[in-house]
Amino acid sequence: MKLSRSIRWIILSLITGFILLITYQFALPRLFIPRVAVTSQMSLIHVGSNDSFAITPDGIQAGRYMLEMLANNNRSAAQKAVAIYDQIIPRENYGGEYSALRWFAQLFLMSNQEKQKALQDPFVASFYDFFADNNFANLKEYVKRKYLLQQDEDQLTEAGRNRAIFLEDFILFNNPTREAWEQTSKVLAAIPVSPGQTIADIGSGPGYYSTRFSQKVGVKGQVYSIDTVQQHLDYINRYIQRQDITNITTINSYPGTTIGLEGKQVDVAFMCSLYHNIYGMSTAPDRDSFVQSIKAALKPGGTLVLVDNGLVEPGQLPYHGPYVAKELIVHQFRFYGFKLKQEYAFIPQRYVLIFEKV
Ligand SMILES: C[S@@+](CC[C@H](N)C(=O)[O-])C[C@H]1O[C@@H](n2cnc3c(N)ncnc32)[C@H](O)[C@@H]1O
Repeated sequence: MKLSRSIRWIILSLITGFILLITYQFALPRLFIPRVAVTSQMSLIHVGSNDSFAITPDGIQAGRYMLEMLANNNRSAAQKAVAIYDQIIPRENYGGEYSALRWFAQLFLMSNQEKQKALQDPFVASFYDFFADNNFANLKEYVKRKYLLQQDEDQLTEAGRNRAIFLEDFILFNNPTREAWEQTSKVLAAIPVSPGQTIADIGSGPGYYSTRFSQKVGVKGQVYSIDTVQQHLDYINRYIQRQDITNITTINSYPGTTIGLEGKQVDVAFMCSLYHNIYGMSTAPDRDSFVQSIKAALKPGGTLVLVDNGLVEPGQLPYHGPYVAKELIVHQFRFYGFKLKQEYAFIPQRYVLIFEKV
């Protein structure tokens, strides 16, 4: 049977259209989906324990010297602690707590004049006071809990663990030398927030970024410091009261299944060193609720900035902390309705992702 020419054209066009449709719908997207490289035995996500930095013999020894320095005003112990930290910071690079402890030992060795200069910045002075008050009670407690140098009655209770996590987050994230390990000023410069705008610092901890955002948005702007741990928020409240800062509001979002901003709108939502936890530890409904609450709080076209640690292949860097492969986050947020606009890496293990709510 002979088909007329026009019918043959119609059939050919339909077949070609069908092939193009299949290619466009299925084959092309698959081709262009970026892949996460699995090139070693490493997991694509690692949350670890809440204290995910290993406790090494050198760290314990330095901790003992710190306690000796504090208990007996012992300069030689301070020098020995500094010498150990100088060695283990480049070798072990366990986050920032070693560099914070070294800062305390160095401060101890300074003349009064040098010390006054080192404590000029009110944020740094407030950090110092927190640990130094009451004959260095909090610093001693931190070192003892961290390096298990004393049997605390509550060591195995939830309250004891929460206290240890609070002190660890406090010393790590308000560390006066954080700039050196995180290049914080570059992170801040990359965040598109301007005077008069509103920004949510989700998982603010003791307020390192919140207080810097407060300066960026100015008196007409607003910062929401959001956390599930009241002790961090209490510290921020005391600090802003003393410094007469009027544009920071703290919000306790416990249990953390939303960001606690119901009914409020922000230009920018910022999350630093938190999402690996949400990604790895939440149930799917809790994670949905958390991300949807960010979406609901963001103004149309608003910005989400997500800072976290990425994968570091063995042998490249002494990085042992929690991480989540960047690609997992980028794609998950795409499905939540966020478009990646920019990305940066100011230090090798840390990415800064800038999304737009679409
Ligand atoms: C690792 S600290 C980072 C602190 C801060 N973002 C910084 O970079 O300086 C993570 C903080 O998130 C808080 N957090 C944990 N889960 C949370 C949740 N679901 N919602 C809000 N904050 C949470 C913790 O209490 C902790 O203070």
